[in-house]
Amino acid sequence: MRELIDRLEREHTLKKEEWTALISEKADKEYLFAKARDVARQYYGNKIYIRGLIEFTNFCKNNCYYCGIRRDNINVVRYRLSENEILDCCGRGYELGFRTFVLQGGEDAFYNEERLIKLISTIKSRYPDCALTLSIGEKSKESYQKFYDAGADRYLLRHETADKSHYEMLHPKEHSFENRMKCLWELKEIGYQVGCGFMIGSKGQTAECLAEDMIFISKFQPQMVGIGPFIPHHDTPFAREAAGTLESTLYMIGLLRLLKPNLLLPATTALGTIDAKGREKGILAGANVVMPNLSPTKVRKKYELYDNKICTGDEAAECLNCLNLRMEQIGYRLSIDRGDPAEEPGGIKCTT
Ligand code: SAM
Ligand code: FES
Repeated sequence: MRELIDRLEREHTLKKEEWTALISEKADKEYLFAKARDVARQYYGNKIYIRGLIEFTNFCKNNCYYCGIRRDNINVVRYRLSENEILDCCGRGYELGFRTFVLQGGEDAFYNEERLIKLISTIKSRYPDCALTLSIGEKSKESYQKFYDAGADRYLLRHETADKSHYEMLHPKEHSFENRMKCLWELKEIGYQVGCGFMIGSKGQTAECLAEDMIFISKFQPQMVGIGPFIPHHDTPFAREAAGTLESTLYMIGLLRLLKPNLLLPATTALGTIDAKGREKGILAGANVVMPNLSPTKVRKKYELYDNKICTGDEAAECLNCLNLRMEQIGYRLSIDRGDPAEEPGGIKCTT
């Protein structure tokens, strides 16, 4: 498998059957991780970018089978932060050194176009040196354009899986694979820095599905890819499904780094949830972003996408200190800037 890994590093692409073989065998792990770390260092040095995550609403009109905040979960205590509470999170985050804010939430009709535009422009006028990322699901192209015009810079919308029949196993009929993909292409066309992504080990996922994800990412060329293990939530139809593994998630992180060297690749909270050192291991497999939580402590536990989510009791400052320490222990440092993607391969690389 070393030859395939070497070729991926040189050519940034593989055929479907080659992806499938690599992903199913997960061979030469340490060899892959060493290369992935090396490539990340060439582009980003030992800098780890931080994003301040604000989980501003857990109301959701959707009903994904895997997600703890799905519409039909009547046991969720629903909350939404007010505009002022969100601005307070940004203020605290700014003082702590965050220069990217991520507004993430369920698809909540209260936060309509008008309210979101007002919120986006207020955040951008108060913090013009910060990047603003939205992660609020599927909207019309017109709304995406208006949010962009109001100042949003980035958009995270995981494609969840690039295989249509797998998508249909993860979602009820009312969800459309085609619309998910259409949204992603529209976001790109508008000019957002776009992040797609998927869970590892979700029900029905095969090595072929993951190969399709890699092929989609080669074609789509996102600036970011968010991946993390699927973790069951006790009040969902997937409550009894097995969780994704640390091993598979790390392997996919390594492959993604070689597929697109300048990718922004988070070591996710889900990774830190299945393993106490999951985020450190993610960085050592090629990730270069962490997303500490800036949401007020009182709502943290209510944004429970899956069971046993970490960092639900900490204040933002504690989260940041803890991550800082964790990163220093493995030879990296958190970086206080917007954390835009490095230039494409062939462009300027990091020499520090
Ligand atoms: N509503 C927005 C959207 O659809 O993009 C953002 C919030 S959504 C809850 C964020 C992501 O969490 C999803 O794209 C999904 O991949 C992930 N997620 C949901 N349930 C999960 C679970 N049980 N285990 C791991 N990840 C999960
Ligand atoms: Fe809210 Fe899936 S349940 S987007």
